[in-house]
Amino acid sequence: MTTETVRVELGARSYDILIGAGETARAGARIAEITGGRPPVIVTDANVAAIHLPGLRASLAGAGLSDVPAIVLPAGEGTKTFAHLERLCEDVLALGVERSTVLIALGGGVIGDITGFAASILLRGLDFIQIPTTLLSQVDSSVGGKTGINTAWGKNLVGAFHQPRLVVVDTGTLDTLPKREVLAGYAEVVKYGLIRDPAFFDELATGEAERLIAGEPEARRRAVAVSCRIKAEIVGADERENADRALLNLGHTFGHAFEAAMGYDGRVLHGEAVAVGTILALDLSVRLGLCPADDPARVRAHFRAVGLPTTPGDLSNAEWDVDELLGHMTRDKKVKDGRITFILTRGVGTAHTQRGVDPARVRAVVADAVAGRV
Ligand code: NAD
Ligand code: GLY
Repeated sequence: MTTETVRVELGARSYDILIGAGETARAGARIAEITGGRPPVIVTDANVAAIHLPGLRASLAGAGLSDVPAIVLPAGEGTKTFAHLERLCEDVLALGVERSTVLIALGGGVIGDITGFAASILLRGLDFIQIPTTLLSQVDSSVGGKTGINTAWGKNLVGAFHQPRLVVVDTGTLDTLPKREVLAGYAEVVKYGLIRDPAFFDELATGEAERLIAGEPEARRRAVAVSCRIKAEIVGADERENADRALLNLGHTFGHAFEAAMGYDGRVLHGEAVAVGTILALDLSVRLGLCPADDPARVRAHFRAVGLPTTPGDLSNAEWDVDELLGHMTRDKKVKDGRITFILTRGVGTAHTQRGVDPARVRAVVADAVAGRV
């Protein structure tokens, strides 16, 4: 399979996303060009290291970069903490790095987010390359330069905008990704159809989703390329999220609340929480008279058909506390002057931001969802 290239246009900080099955094996020379022939430092997690680190090292060796050091972090959301960030920075410094050293994030969104953040602060800024290995990171987190860690106050509340120099999407790495993780990433693929591209949503809902989830190479390449193209377009127009970039957070304000309430302990995956959050955002759009009721019904039916959760009860049998969930939502980064900005929709393919939504309407959506009335 050949390489498809999507460009993120950000002036002097523009970069390519290389997409294709087997891309890691092909990317060695391109990476060596960026490192200037100097050895990079790979950061990965224990699961990914066991499966995909040898392939990356072989590709780098083929381009003259031998014995590249790798720092292996524990897998999972619990790694996005100050404690792990500190340890990672110390471990990178212990290798005797210089300003010209490039970090490579090999893994899912957790590794991309913490490695990118470490790169942004080490020696006041190192270059880094993203090699995302989950569907979620291939279609979303590796692109756009948002990096960071979680705190007890909420998700991704400490971080920096730091764009990678290159993103290498090897869709073949998804062969080893557990099905539950593939599905969670798929929720972010659907997001692009819902915010910008109704034809893409229709395509997904009429067979393409099953082909993608089953691992058909062409379906993977197309879904990743369409998603990255839409994300690149949005980020290129609004890097710092002053306007349309916020649309990429469809379903995330609700979703983050479920993740926070579960303490980021891995019982709920980010994409699963986003799937339920998306249904709630669509429900809120209907209740505000913005969107025909058929649209959330179509999305809910599609999520159910592929096996994604659609209600808080699907995420956990635990009692959800409505006040606690609303409390987490008000600590979201999208709060301004104490008011949450919601991403709402007038129908599939058209999302917009809206401030000043009546809090009683929001409470009703959350309360009904928690009570299983949606
Ligand atoms: P993750 O990084 O935790 O990876 C999920 C699991 O899959 C981990 O156990 C990992 O070890 C394993 N894994 C990764 N690749 C594998 C492979 N190819 N084969 C087998 N196992 C593999 O989770 P994720 O879903 O990739 O990312 C979620 C994170 O991304 C969250 O922290 C979220 O906040 C963040 N995120 C960031 C952005 C952004 O713009 N920066 C956007 C969306 C999400
Ligand atoms: N995932 C949201 C963003 O990149 O802006």
